[in-house]
Amino acid sequence: MTVALHELAMQGDPGTLASEDQASKLKLMNPQQLYELWERQHWASQDIDFAQDKRDWAEMDDPNKDQFMWGLSAFFIGEERVTTQFSGLVMAYQDEQEEAFLTTQQVDEARHVQFFDRMYREVFGVDDADIRDRLARVRRDLNQSFITLFDEELVQAGQKLIADPSDIGAKVEFVAIYHMVIEGILALTGQNFITQFCEREGIMPGFVEGFGKVARDEHRHVAYGTWFLKETAGKNEVLAQRMRDKIVELLPVAAGVLVPVGYDIGDEWELFGYNSAQVNEFAYASLTRRLKAIGVPLIAAESAAA
Ligand SMILES: [Fe+2]
Ligand SMILES: [Fe+2]
Repeated sequence: MTVALHELAMQGDPGTLASEDQASKLKLMNPQQLYELWERQHWASQDIDFAQDKRDWAEMDDPNKDQFMWGLSAFFIGEERVTTQFSGLVMAYQDEQEEAFLTTQQVDEARHVQFFDRMYREVFGVDDADIRDRLARVRRDLNQSFITLFDEELVQAGQKLIADPSDIGAKVEFVAIYHMVIEGILALTGQNFITQFCEREGIMPGFVEGFGKVARDEHRHVAYGTWFLKETAGKNEVLAQRMRDKIVELLPVAAGVLVPVGYDIGDEWELFGYNSAQVNEFAYASLTRRLKAIGVPLIAAESAAA
């Protein structure tokens, strides 16, 4: 089952491939194909069995508990943000197949919020009666880079699309922030290292199963973003420059989101047994493969020469 999930996760997302060369040759899936893949990849957040996870949590030492809850706070709040701030992109659909895919992505993000909310309630015992109280409590763990990216950049980009869903430049910018930076750089990087930690320790099987399914959804979302940017920024230098500028502007902010409590941006840090260089290298390598597939490298001269 794990192998099958892994193979499906790779479909359409060049970030999962072994090299830039493979990424540049990948035939990207279009929104209709990604919609059909969504129908084949259904899962239910309420079906995940957390019985062993509760026992593992009770036995975990305090430093590991602290880094685990800190790592997941960005996911729980991040999934809430990307669910509510997605509506502008749904409004900006260009045909009914893209509309179908985009509505599936919004419901996926709601499912991810449900999954992390169950973790907080049932495994961590954060059992406020109201989800808003739980979100407010978890928010206290977040750093300023997170606020900049999710409460300012993402929200403003969404508002621009809502104001004018036909603004293709605003749509390129939104997808650059959402699919390339938030999902591609942050979510899939965090997921990779937290999951490896749990697998190495042999703990939290329900969480690992659910998080794997969240990641499979995220790869499908990133596959859409890659397809969309190739069709737009990949064919128009003005749009390419807009996409490139936004990603370059937000790279240091994204790096800041990954910095754990107690460290400053620029410090070397360690989390789940991995150091900052390893984490940043993973994030940058997968971004580079996606940009290769889009045909818009971060340095404009490369695209002019190519
Ligand atoms: Fe998500
Ligand atoms: Fe997503």
